[in-house]
Amino acid sequence: MEPLTDPFGRLHDYIRISVTDRCNLRCIYCMPAEGMQFQPQDEILSYEEITAVVEALAPLGLSKVRLTGGEPLVRKDLEQLVAMIAAIPGIDDISLTTNGLMLPAKALLLKQAGLSRVNISLDSLKQDRFSMITRGGDVAKVLKGIEAAEAAGLSPIKLNVVLMKGINDDEIKDFISLTLNSPLNVRFIEYMPIGSASDSWRQTYLPLETVVEACTAAGWETEEADMPSGNGPSQNRRVVGARGTFGLIHPVSEHFCDNCNRLRLTADGHIKACLYWADEYNVRPLVQDPAAVQALFRKALGNKPHNHEMALALEKKAQSHTPTARRMSQIGG
Ligand code: 5AD
Ligand code: SF4
Repeated sequence: MEPLTDPFGRLHDYIRISVTDRCNLRCIYCMPAEGMQFQPQDEILSYEEITAVVEALAPLGLSKVRLTGGEPLVRKDLEQLVAMIAAIPGIDDISLTTNGLMLPAKALLLKQAGLSRVNISLDSLKQDRFSMITRGGDVAKVLKGIEAAEAAGLSPIKLNVVLMKGINDDEIKDFISLTLNSPLNVRFIEYMPIGSASDSWRQTYLPLETVVEACTAAGWETEEADMPSGNGPSQNRRVVGARGTFGLIHPVSEHFCDNCNRLRLTADGHIKACLYWADEYNVRPLVQDPAAVQALFRKALGNKPHNHEMALALEKKAQSHTPTARRMSQIGG
């Protein structure tokens, strides 16, 4: 069968599936402090519906699935979904993006169900700051989650650090220090204007040269590093002699769209061919019909723009399409 390509010849073999828009934290860049309207339970895809979508796409070359949220582990018995997806022929890599809080209880069950690896979001190593960024989270619990993932053999473990000016940019060295003696991949991500490009975003955004400068200031010599498995848009480096690596993801300042292989499915069943733009296609009414599911994904890909225009948002310039009104918690990153 014809693979999933877009008009720019980009092959799509990877889907990010948000399983819930709920979360046990309230990160400042992801959700408002109060008044977040969550999707009603009956509007969220069941595990059977999600599995049906993946089953329809696997014969078209889909091989990688990432489960995201909100926080995916607040959805009951997520390991059951992992097992259902792992049983689909052609799916050879299942990963999870999580805040890590529930990994001590879940890491082993997830591994046994067929999960390959986890990305853990961690924006500060200092408790007072972590609590400010997450509105009440406990960093020690995340560190326990990392240990649990290691013990369960979920590897490689990647840490996602969203770089924010005046909030955590003085911790770059501390984060990279974690890679000196441990095989972690710490990924610094530029702060993206998802949900709205506000002045507060413009003031908080930092380009990733900051990370390179911090390495120079620390007197570290760094070298290009091999890609840990499943790597997408991250450029990886290593402090010479370190066990782990660190990566740079520049969604805003550099195009990472040229090699985009990603599709997205929201918890309420909408296909997003691009993270940034508003275009969506509701697949839920079609999930029992694999040919119709395939056709709708092809339609979404047929209309996929070549790139996002976040850099224009930084300069307050007009953009060619309408950016999404969804919050990050309703897309899953
Ligand atoms: N910019 C960059 N990264 C973000 N994430 C959430 N919101 C943003 C944003 N505005 C990250 C989370 C998580 C991943 C899914 O995306 O921290 O690690
Ligand atoms: Fe792909 Fe859109 Fe993200 Fe660019 S912004 S990498 S095209 S999903």
